[in-house]
Amino acid sequence: MPFTANRQFRAAPRLLSRAEGMYYWTPEGRQVLDGTAGLWCVNAGHCRPKIVEAVRRQVGEMDFAPTFQMGHPIAFEFAERLAAIAPPGFKHVFFTNSGSESADTALKIALAYHRARGEGQRYRLIGRERGYHGVNFGGMAVGGIPSNRKVFGPGIAGVYHIRHTHDPSRNSFSKGQPLHGGVEFADDLERLCTFHDPSTIAAVIVEPVAGSAGVLVPPRGYLERLREICTRHGILLIFDEVITGFGRLGKPFGAERLGVMPDLFTTAKALTNGTVPMGAVFVKDSIHDAFMQGPAGIELFHGYTYSGHPVACAAGIGMLDTCEEEGLLERVAGLESYWETAAHALKGARHVIDVRNYGLMAAIELEPRPGAPAARAYETFVKAFESGVLIRVTADTIALSPPLIVEKPQIDRLFQAIREALTSVA
Ligand SMILES: Cc1ncc(COP(=O)(O)O)c(C=O)c1O
Repeated sequence: MPFTANRQFRAAPRLLSRAEGMYYWTPEGRQVLDGTAGLWCVNAGHCRPKIVEAVRRQVGEMDFAPTFQMGHPIAFEFAERLAAIAPPGFKHVFFTNSGSESADTALKIALAYHRARGEGQRYRLIGRERGYHGVNFGGMAVGGIPSNRKVFGPGIAGVYHIRHTHDPSRNSFSKGQPLHGGVEFADDLERLCTFHDPSTIAAVIVEPVAGSAGVLVPPRGYLERLREICTRHGILLIFDEVITGFGRLGKPFGAERLGVMPDLFTTAKALTNGTVPMGAVFVKDSIHDAFMQGPAGIELFHGYTYSGHPVACAAGIGMLDTCEEEGLLERVAGLESYWETAAHALKGARHVIDVRNYGLMAAIELEPRPGAPAARAYETFVKAFESGVLIRVTADTIALSPPLIVEKPQIDRLFQAIREALTSVA
């Protein structure tokens, strides 16, 4: 099983067998409130009729078609719908099947772009400590979570990391973007530029808000400074929007909420509301156009059998229809202050050493139990699940990201369940 303690699971399995709206049900019929949108996927809530219907229709009409030297209308239709909600200047997408594939695709496009412009010496890639860009070799290399890297060999050459932005000594219990350290943390990129010669660096990849490493919100001025340094040195800035995309931060994409534009950005998960696996890499028009010079032929030797899969495209269109009808891509803007207040009410609760939030994301960090890191959070997760609430834990941090359709009483219930679980965990 993926990222699972298999033997622990086998001894005490937790199963989900049905879902609707804000809830899962276990096979025994117990209702579980979804505090995690599945795994940051189900932004529109579960089993939404427009998506279900679109998938049903498409799978009966055309189940699969190749996209190498071929096309099908629904893939272009979905790409156009995505371009219409993307920030200005992002009119092109490349379809993948996951966040991991999106990360590797974006890195490869960055390298190929420089080469197409006669700057093939730009081969270095820069990630960030505590970053997560999936588990394939490219994403793993630029990722910065030690346990995801340490047993898998030397990775790929020419990869470096800037420091992470988590600074509890100055920024604990921040509401929204932390105040301290933004420019200072970003200037670590300048250090790498000086050391390696910036004309050898192809791209920098970061999550606008780091999710998997525990909801690390960028301090004020941080992303602006990264942008400035990248622009000055001709380095491409890639945002990994796999969890910040599709309304999580109150705008269609995190870049818009944070007011900083990358050159490429990756998506997956809520792209199809998690219904069918799919990812998409958005590229700036100038990057796309750089590939369209010279003699005609295959411009990018890259792609997946399932790129632009018709059933995934149908799910994605159903997702966009649902979001448009219900204003979901902006809904969080009106909910965020309630969410923030509810999260920060846990300040002072047992074991809690930090609370942070942004958009409809929050983290509650627990003091690790001496000699048993992550045990306290894991036990909290189990207790919350037993009480009918699904939360997610990474190390000793509880990460929350409910579907964007969540109502205020459900927010109350989510935090109440955590408070109660914390009182019973040693
Ligand atoms: C920011 C980010 N990038 C990439 C990924 C990898 O996505 P997938 O598991 O679909 O490969 C994730 C998954 O959580 C993610 O949060």
